[in-house]
Amino acid sequence: MDYKSLINTSEVPSHVAIIMDGNGRWAKKHNKPRIFGHKNGVLSVRSVVEGAGEIGLKYLTLYAFSTENWKRPKIEIAALMQLLVVTISNEVTALNKNGVRLLTIGDLKSLPGNCERELRKAMDKTKNNKGLTLVLALSYSSKSEIINAVKKIATEVSENKLSIEGINDQMFNNYLDTSDIDDPELLIRTSGECRLSNFLLWQIAYSELYFTDKFWPDFTKDDLFKAVVSYQKRERRFGMTSEQLSS
Ligand code: IPE
Ligand code: IPE
Ligand code: MG
Repeated sequence: MDYKSLINTSEVPSHVAIIMDGNGRWAKKHNKPRIFGHKNGVLSVRSVVEGAGEIGLKYLTLYAFSTENWKRPKIEIAALMQLLVVTISNEVTALNKNGVRLLTIGDLKSLPGNCERELRKAMDKTKNNKGLTLVLALSYSSKSEIINAVKKIATEVSENKLSIEGINDQMFNNYLDTSDIDDPELLIRTSGECRLSNFLLWQIAYSELYFTDKFWPDFTKDDLFKAVVSYQKRERRFGMTSEQLSS
């Protein structure tokens, strides 16, 4: 099925976020070690980034490593971090060629030094690109992000830089890691799991959720297009009635 041709190009979401899940189970299905799944997951990242550019997304956020993932076996974490360093340094040229700007959310400082350095270098090298913004969530926890925002706001209130009445929904956004990024209209999770795993809890208050049974290494740009087609069939009512939207 050619899902790309079914996309209404005038109503493409500006931000799609993806929980890339199922690398381990995909590897197991192929009788391979988990890291083999992660390596093949990188190919899916490449395809989806390409696809996002093709349909003109402004932002693509990929959940690559959660704060909770630090609880995994040390050997898997080390392999994932190594894969991250190698992938980032290999992909920078392609990112630049395609006008992709790289950003990260999460606690970069908690990553191994070489990962943090490679990421900062890549962000710097791509900072002037005007195409897709690729946001990698690394060592990310939505609850920590929200708590950090609350701490910054509380500090400003205690220093009389901000009044309690000045705290509202819009300004709260400015204290999150995603302050410069529109909220995702569409959130995709692969591998059949129907949970959020501490991802963008504030930002997805009104996002459309799309779950697919495909494991991440089997997910390609065509699956992204399919999800966008499904998104475009939905009616986003934001609390109103269907009649109100059509009048
Ligand atoms: C997602 O795949 C990648 C990361 C969380 C880093 P998993 O590694 O969670 O794969 P499953 O869920 O065990 O199959
Ligand atoms: C969520 O996947 C995090 C990422 C995709 C990076 P997990 O595989 O860690 O999620 P849980 O623990 O099964 O909910
Ligand atoms: Mg998983």
